[in-house]
Amino acid sequence: MSDQPAAMLDIHDLQGWYDESHVLHGISLKVARGEVITLLGRNGAGKTTSLRAIMGILGRTAGSIRFNGAELVGLSPDKIARKGIGYCPEDRGIFSGLTVDENLLLPPVVGKGGMSVAEIHTLFPNLVERRTSFGTKLSGGEQQMLAIGRILRTGASLLLLDEPTEGLAPVIVQQIGVAVRLLKQRGFTILLVEQNFHFASTVADRHYVVEEGKIVDEIANDDLPNQTERLKSYLGV
Ligand SMILES: Nc1ncnc2c1ncn2[C@@H]1O[C@H](COP(=O)(O)OP(=O)(O)OP(=O)(O)O)[C@@H](O)[C@H]1O
Ligand SMILES: [Mg+2]
Repeated sequence: MSDQPAAMLDIHDLQGWYDESHVLHGISLKVARGEVITLLGRNGAGKTTSLRAIMGILGRTAGSIRFNGAELVGLSPDKIARKGIGYCPEDRGIFSGLTVDENLLLPPVVGKGGMSVAEIHTLFPNLVERRTSFGTKLSGGEQQMLAIGRILRTGASLLLLDEPTEGLAPVIVQQIGVAVRLLKQRGFTILLVEQNFHFASTVADRHYVVEEGKIVDEIANDDLPNQTERLKSYLGV
């Protein structure tokens, strides 16, 4: 990885715990500005926990997470978000009692370069006709689009997306893929958790494989066709 530009996100030997349970055992990875990187791995491998550790919402962490050179370990979630990191959790975190517009406008703007609501509507046209619908009325795909749209307004430059395609119909998965590629073109940096490596291969530059709280492999997307069997054995598919 020595020929890569300086990493925007540089995680070294990250350890993480839920109470007494030691779950992350040394996650090390780098993401350069403008890259789309996936974390692949089986259920319970530690993908979500890694994202939670980056956001500072895991109870206890050790090791180092540098973002644009600054150490995040030990900072409050609020301070971490304000450095320009947007998090889209696995459950999407939509407020069911708020409308689509209200959900979009809720998160504080933390940096320059955030998208306007009009730009978010251009990216996700499905949201336009749902502007006044409540969160509870949205389909899974609409919820996912809203969850991503919501963090685009904030000005975050690094997006952490946890299984954005989970449970969605193929046509919606394709729409999410189009959006992720557009976001990359616009210069966003994206760390994406996925179990669907077919989807991952359509959007990502590189893939890290997570197993039992450690990064056990790294695969360039261009090399994926040669590594399918290896990847399948990691994922148990
Ligand atoms: N709130 C929690 N309290 C205690 N242990 C937890 C908690 N959440 C997750 N774990 C454990 O931590 C480990 C890693 O879980 P994590 O949710 O990070 O996995 P994952 O890779 O995201 O899996 P999935 O693909 O199922 O989402 C698992 O052993 C899980 O059981
Ligand atoms: Mg998870």
